[in-house]
Amino acid sequence: MIVARTLPDLRAACAALRRTHEAIGLVPTMGALHEGHRMLVRRSVASGAATVASIFVNPLQFAASEDLGRYPRDEAGDLAALEAEGCAVAWLPDVATMYPPDAVTTISLEGPALRWEGDARPGHFRGVATVCAKLFGQVGADRAYFGEKDWQQLQVIRRMVADLLLPLEIVPVETVREPDGLALSSRNRFLSPEERRRAPRLFAVLQDCVRGLTAGEDAEALLTQGAARLRADGFTPDYLALVDGPSLAPIATAAPDARLIAAGRLGTVRLLDNVGLSAA
Ligand code: PAF
Repeated sequence: MIVARTLPDLRAACAALRRTHEAIGLVPTMGALHEGHRMLVRRSVASGAATVASIFVNPLQFAASEDLGRYPRDEAGDLAALEAEGCAVAWLPDVATMYPPDAVTTISLEGPALRWEGDARPGHFRGVATVCAKLFGQVGADRAYFGEKDWQQLQVIRRMVADLLLPLEIVPVETVREPDGLALSSRNRFLSPEERRRAPRLFAVLQDCVRGLTAGEDAEALLTQGAARLRADGFTPDYLALVDGPSLAPIATAAPDARLIAAGRLGTVRLLDNVGLSAA
């Protein structure tokens, strides 16, 4: 595996991959890799694409109040994991490469970026979309892999790629979970043992709501009860909502593309999860 730390090194590595492979698959990450990230790499490698994984803790997607410095980092462990999964190139740019001091251009978003995480973390998706657009261009990727765990992020990226006519395909990959249902996340390591014990209840509430919806129960009542259960379990919920999957617009009744999304704080850790309506 080639480890590229400068743009000329990345370009040389990607040009070589183009000569030997029909497609380049990109897995954008912020490092602290877990089984969910490894699954994205595995999907890309299994598709036959030469796989490039980026590791860049993107300052533009953190608000001033969020602790960028606390974001977990494990470069040696990450590189070993990427190599073991068959990644061809690890791309580790520095901040000056991604955001030259004179840069003034960012991606402005509406549609699926409004509401939910857009409200809870103002500016977050502008940062995510801007860095992803840069990574797509740097790598010249034919496909990029994103986890369904961050459902809203996946829809924001899909919309951006469609709207900016970017020549790549966005490939969604299902959420990887612990045996007790907790969605894998780099933040799980910050849960205390007691919080870790309670954390799977977020997924359990989502599943119960899906079951109720599928059985024809009233969505508003189910969501109100679900939020109350989360509070009783020690969560401070930011939202528990039924939305149209692609647009993230709230909807009042179950529909084929509907998604249940939830986010809340358990202690100091913010957890996100979502399920499709066929998941219960
Ligand atoms: O999901 C993430 O880890 C980040 O938001 C991403 C897509 C790598 C952009 O920094």
